[in-house]
Amino acid sequence: MPFPIHRPRRLRRTESLRRLTRETQLQPENFIEPLFLIPGEGQVKPISSMPGIAQLSVDQAVKQCEEAKSLGLGGVILFGIPETKDEFASGAYDPDGIVQQGVRAIKAAVPDLLVITDVCNCEYTSHGHCGHIVDNDVDNDVTLDWLARSAVSHAAAGADIVAPSDMMDGRVAAIRSALDQAGHPLVPIMSYAAKYASGFYGPFREAAESTPQFGDRRSYQMDPPNAREAMREIELDLEEGADMIIVKPALAYLDIIAAARNRFDVPIAAYQVSGEYSMIMAAVQNGWVDYERVMFESLTAIKRAGATMIINYFAKPAARLL
Ligand code: PBG
Repeated sequence: MPFPIHRPRRLRRTESLRRLTRETQLQPENFIEPLFLIPGEGQVKPISSMPGIAQLSVDQAVKQCEEAKSLGLGGVILFGIPETKDEFASGAYDPDGIVQQGVRAIKAAVPDLLVITDVCNCEYTSHGHCGHIVDNDVDNDVTLDWLARSAVSHAAAGADIVAPSDMMDGRVAAIRSALDQAGHPLVPIMSYAAKYASGFYGPFREAAESTPQFGDRRSYQMDPPNAREAMREIELDLEEGADMIIVKPALAYLDIIAAARNRFDVPIAAYQVSGEYSMIMAAVQNGWVDYERVMFESLTAIKRAGATMIINYFAKPAARLL
């Protein structure tokens, strides 16, 4: 054997060579920032399990959105924590609910910023489940009606995209037909098509005050060991009219993102969820890992796996550094 002709290290020798040959680039326009809206004015309530993230009253969220726009973020996704919760999630589809107010205020102040709304009932039900409870389980078809009403109320308030995250069967079709009938045929649906029943949502449930008061979400969210089932869920949502799909969580499900990328020709979003963020931040705060390196490495992995967009809590700090 002669001395090796192939020396992959040649292309890694300097930063300019590495930059030239880099396969994956992160861009602020592919980041979507989650915002948690609460009632009131001038409110910024830090979420203890998510360092750097806070619940915001609408006026404060508007300020964050102005900054999101100036940083060039792709958009924001809104979650709402209503004044009161009830068995019927009425705050979710109240035309004057917290998310609906938020959308109106943000679109009035920052019209060019893309506003996505999370369509789900768990933040609005007294029991914390994602729909109407019958015999200790969520009744699918009654819940569809609530979801459709929520989506229409978000679109009427000016939402650019609606994103159903409940994992009920048939919700994309129900939402599509309700939007069309209400005169919103051009509002796209970004469906959380492959959403797993994950332990990584823990901190979000503090942030959104949506922990189920009994049981868990395993009868509607997906079982983590299943990959083929994710392809079927995505296929069904696309057949029902989804324009884009979401895989969630992200880092523990990179195989699902990659498989979906190979199989479906629609934009794919991945959601780097609260627990993923909090684990990194906890290690950063202990001095165990480097903040910037691990933030960018985790986001890059998600993009490299095939995600077009990343919904994530690092959106602003990452955009500032890019
Ligand atoms: C449900 C919803 C959840 C998240 C987004 N939408 C939580 C859940 O299903 O319990 C999780 C997001 C995160 O953990 O960052 N409406």
